[in-house]
This record gives sequence, C-alpha cells and structure tokens, in this order.
Amino acid sequence: MLKYLSLVVILFASQIESNLINESKLWSITCGSDTCSQSLSVCLYCYGERQCRQCLFNFNQECSACADDIFDKNNLENINGKDYLLCDSSDPLQVKICHIHCRSRNIAYGVCTKVQNIPVCECTADPGLLTTNKTTTATTTVSTTQTTTWQSSTITSATRTLPTSTTTATTPVSTTWRDSTTTTVTRTVPTVTTTATTGSFSSLSTFSTTLKPINPSNNYSLTGVLKFKLTGDKTNRNVLLALPNGDLASGTSYGKIHIWNTKIGVLKRNLTSNYKTIWSLSLLSNGNLVSGYYDAKTIQIWDLNRTDSLIKTFQIDENPYCLTTLPNDDLVSGFDLSYNIVLRDSTNGFVKQKLVGHIHSIYQVISLPNGYLASCSEDRTIKIWNLNLGSVVRNFDNGQSYSNSLALLNSGYLAGIVQGNSINVWNLEDGNLVRSFTGHTDRIFRLAILNDGNLASSSFDKTVKVWNSKNGSLMKNLVSHSYQVWYLSTLTSGYLASESFGEICIWS
Ligand SMILES: *[C@@H]1O[C@H](CO)[C@@H](O)[C@H](O)[C@H]1NC(C)=O
Ligand SMILES: *[C@@H]1O[C@H](CO)[C@@H](O)[C@H](O)[C@H]1NC(C)=O
Ligand SMILES: *[C@@H]1O[C@H](CO)[C@@H](O)[C@H](O)[C@H]1NC(C)=O
Ligand SMILES: *[C@@H]1O[C@H](CO)[C@@H](O)[C@H](O)[C@H]1NC(C)=O
Ligand SMILES: *[C@@H]1O[C@H](CO)[C@@H](O)[C@H](O)[C@H]1NC(C)=O
Ligand SMILES: *[C@@H]1O[C@H](CO)[C@@H](O)[C@H](O)[C@H]1NC(C)=O
Repeated sequence: MLKYLSLVVILFASQIESNLINESKLWSITCGSDTCSQSLSVCLYCYGERQCRQCLFNFNQECSACADDIFDKNNLENINGKDYLLCDSSDPLQVKICHIHCRSRNIAYGVCTKVQNIPVCECTADPGLLTTNKTTTATTTVSTTQTTTWQSSTITSATRTLPTSTTTATTPVSTTWRDSTTTTVTRTVPTVTTTATTGSFSSLSTFSTTLKPINPSNNYSLTGVLKFKLTGDKTNRNVLLALPNGDLASGTSYGKIHIWNTKIGVLKRNLTSNYKTIWSLSLLSNGNLVSGYYDAKTIQIWDLNRTDSLIKTFQIDENPYCLTTLPNDDLVSGFDLSYNIVLRDSTNGFVKQKLVGHIHSIYQVISLPNGYLASCSEDRTIKIWNLNLGSVVRNFDNGQSYSNSLALLNSGYLAGIVQGNSINVWNLEDGNLVRSFTGHTDRIFRLAILNDGNLASSSFDKTVKVWNSKNGSLMKNLVSHSYQVWYLSTLTSGYLASESFGEICIWS
C-alpha cells in the first residue's frame, strides 16, 4: 500500500509540475503493482498493440487492466495537434510504459522527454535523433565494458538512450511458463517472491533441460582428406547448403543455384532465376529450397523434385542475408531497414512477426529448441529470443567486437565468434563462458556443426579448422584454399563442404 501511495505522490507532484492535473494517468495505478511492473519489463521488446497486449496478459492476467489503460487512446494528451502519452522521465515505471506504448504503435523506442515543457513520451525509430529537450535521465547511456557479460533483456547498447532504471529484474519469472503445456497453470501464479531474482539467468533452466540437439543421421568423423575441388562462381562468395539427398547447393552472383553431386563431384543441375546475387539458402521441411536475393529483395522457393522447379516468388522489404527456416516452416526472411528480424509464412510470404531489438545488420539467425532463436548482429550483441512472446530473453553484449556466426553445440552450449579470431562457447543457462577455441590467425567467418558433434570454422586465414567441442582442442587443420574461406556446410554423408570465392572443397 505504501508503494501505491508513494506512486500517487510522485504522480501528483509531476502533474503539479507540468500543470496537467488530469485523471488520464490511471495506468500508474493499474500498472504499478509489483507483478505488472515486472510484466512491463518482460514485454519491453513486444511489437504491435496486439502482441504487446498479449505479452502483458500472458505474464499475468491481472495486467490486462494496465494494458487497457496504456493502450487507451483517450489517455493521450494533445499538444500542438499531436497526441502524446504523458511521461515523467524520473519515474522508472512511466519510462517503461512509454517504451511499450511506442512499441505497441510499431515504433522502436519510447523516450520520456519534454515538449513545450510538458513531460511526454516521444516515440522514435532512433533515440539518437531526440537530441533536443531530453532530460538527463533519459540520456543516460549504458557503458559497455570489455568483459563479456550477459545482460537482462533491456536495451544495453552504448548508443541507446533508455534509462538505466530498467536494467533489473527484467527476465521472465517462472522456469516453466514458456512451455506451452504448462502455461495455463503458471500464468496464474507468478508472485513477487519468484520475480525478485537478481540472477537474470535462472529462467533459462527449462530451456537447457529440454534442449534436444539435432541428431545427426550418422556420427561420421572427418578424416580431413580433400575429396573434390569444385568450381562455382569465382567472382563472388558462394553461399552453400547441404541438401537432404546428399547433394550440395551453392549460390552465385549470376542468378544460378548450382546443384552438385558430392559423391562423384560433378555439377548436375542449375536452377536459374531472373534475380542475380544469391545471398542465402535455406530448406523447408519437405526438402524445398529457399533462396534469398539481396539486390532484388526477393525470396524464391524451389521444388527440386520438379524439372520446372521454381514454385514461388515473394517480394520482400528486408535484406535476406540472415534467411533461415524455423521448425514450423516459417521463414526468418531477413532484417528490415530498422534492423528488425522479419518472420514470414513460407506458404504465402506474409509477414507474421517482427523482432525488434537489434540496431545494426543481422548476420545470422539460428533456431534453438522450444521456440527460441539466437541472432548475432553487427551491433555487437547476440540475442536470444522467445518467439511466443516476441521478446529478447537473453542479451549477450559482446562489447568490442561482433559475432558473424553462431552454432548450437550438442551439449546445448552456444558457440559464437568473438574478437574475430576466436570462438567462445557460452552456457545459455547462466551466461558463463565455458571455453574458447583459439588458433585461427585471422577473422573467422562461419561455424558449422559436424555430424560427430564437433565444430568446424572457416577463416580469412585460408584454413578450415575442426575443434573438439568438448575440450576445445584443435583436431584438424584443413588447408587447400588460396583465399579467405567463407561458407561451410556439413553434408548428409558427414563430409564437409567449404567455399572460397567459388572454389568449393569437399572434405571427407
Ligand atoms: C483531461 O482529460 C480529459 C479527457 O481526456 C480532457 O478532456 C481534458 O481536457 C484534460 N484536462 C487537462 C487539463 O488536460
Ligand atoms: C525543444 O525545446 C525548444 C525550446 O527549448 C522548443 O522551441 C522546441 O519546440 C522543443 N522541441 C520539441 C520537439 O518539443
Ligand atoms: C557411431 O555409432 C555406431 C552405432 O551407434 C557405433 O557403433 C560407432 O562406434 C560410432 N562411431 C563413432 C566413431 O563414434
Ligand atoms: C550450369 O551453369 C554453368 C555456369 O553458367 C554452366 O557452365 C554449366 O554447363 C551449367 N550446367 C548445367 C548442368 O546446366
Ligand atoms: C521430393 O522427393 C523426395 C524423395 O522422394 C521426398 O522425400 C520429398 O518429400 C519430395 N519433396 C516434395 C516437396 O515433394
Ligand atoms: C580432447 O579430447 C580428444 C578426444 O577425446 C583427445 O584426443 C584430446 O587429447 C583432448 N584434448 C585435451 C586438450 O584434453
């Protein structure tokens, strides 16, 4: 009760200050309970009113009144013909509400600022643009450190201007609530005691215990003998993708997808598109191939069982560089101009969801079990997303360098590249660094899991290295490429394909 009182007092004071005594800020009461305050923290990355509402409700049904209040357009204040939510930047609760209010309107950030000396919530795609009229609280930047630390799901980049007050207790509460079979039970029970966790990683225990790594079709271990050297498009890097029948697909800059028979090392087929540079390849569960074209912002779907293979073409607004297929056959189709990760229905190409949080190009997205995704970006963060909520559940801030590839090890650990030359392996549960693989002498570009569970990496040092993923020791150093090695793909046979400007090596 005391808490409520103090809230009302703060609210009252700020209203006096701004000379806006009004009952419009009902949400300070309905959203001010401990549980709803927590739910606001969890939902900071929601997007669109429907998803934001759902997120608040999923966390605790009590918060639907809070949602009604913060999404009620009648609660807005009209200043100079523009509607604003009032927001006092000194109140952490109002700061969170402002952010979610903006997210519900499909705008990336909400910042509490002043317009004509009235404290309001300003929605912006880039808080850096709000240089005028910002209060000191709203411009506090979060400093990055060189040490790699896991952070809770708040905005942490150095360039962001969200308040520091939102950095605590922002992770979901219960360890079971994400599991769809237990949602109804746990939704009704979150309490203050379960939410008052200082360790922001406890909620991942469900995640790690139910982790079922991909079972390889065999446990073949690479001998490191070069089987074939194939020649693709020498003018560009060629994205590689192993196909279920043992073949290998490679992209080109002239619109052809080459299909290679890797048993005998011959080019057996071309899929020809009107679009040119192929940046990404992915597979649907029925074996259909998905290709992403950078310049044309297009995705195509191919049925390889047909001679006339092209079955669908979708025009998209995003850069398909980080294209991947989710277990339900939805596509991560790329990232849009605001660096949101876009999810589309692969049957009709419609946008289903946008994941908002990155602030720079996204290099790779991988699917994790139980509806999670991991993404790495030029913004130097690795984010773990809960797709059901559309929110970040873990944010790994790489500090000084970015990761351009990620891989989920069979142990359930996440491997990602840091500092260019070394691969760090993290425990997703507690964010601890488990081990580091060092040995490359230049930037690493891609990671690939081998059939025996070990990890391969391609590098600008012209080598491909194979690491024992259990103890980090270097097992194989594959040398044959003359230039930097870009893409890797593990074939169904267990062999490894590596690529350097169209030179494709098949390693047995
Ligand atoms: C208070 O809110 C009501 C309804 O939204 C509005 O009509 C009124 O003008 C507001 N009062 C002030 C002082 O802003
Ligand atoms: C910012 O403040 C200045 C005066 O300090 C004012 O003229 C201007 O309209 C304000 N800008 C916004 C967006 O409120
Ligand atoms: C691969 O699996 C088979 C059967 O599960 C087993 O007999 C064999 O020893 C395994 N080989 C290696 C190298 O682990
Ligand atoms: C595929 O395209 C390449 C390069 O354009 C060409 O050299 C090759 O003959 C084609 N192969 C087939 C099987 O069509
Ligand atoms: C193509 O053929 C393979 C092998 O017969 C089959 O497993 C696969 O499902 C087929 N793909 C489609 C899209 O029908
Ligand atoms: C790692 O494990 C492999 C295979 O078990 C073994 O050969 C190697 O010596 C180990 N390396 C270290 C550093 O323990």
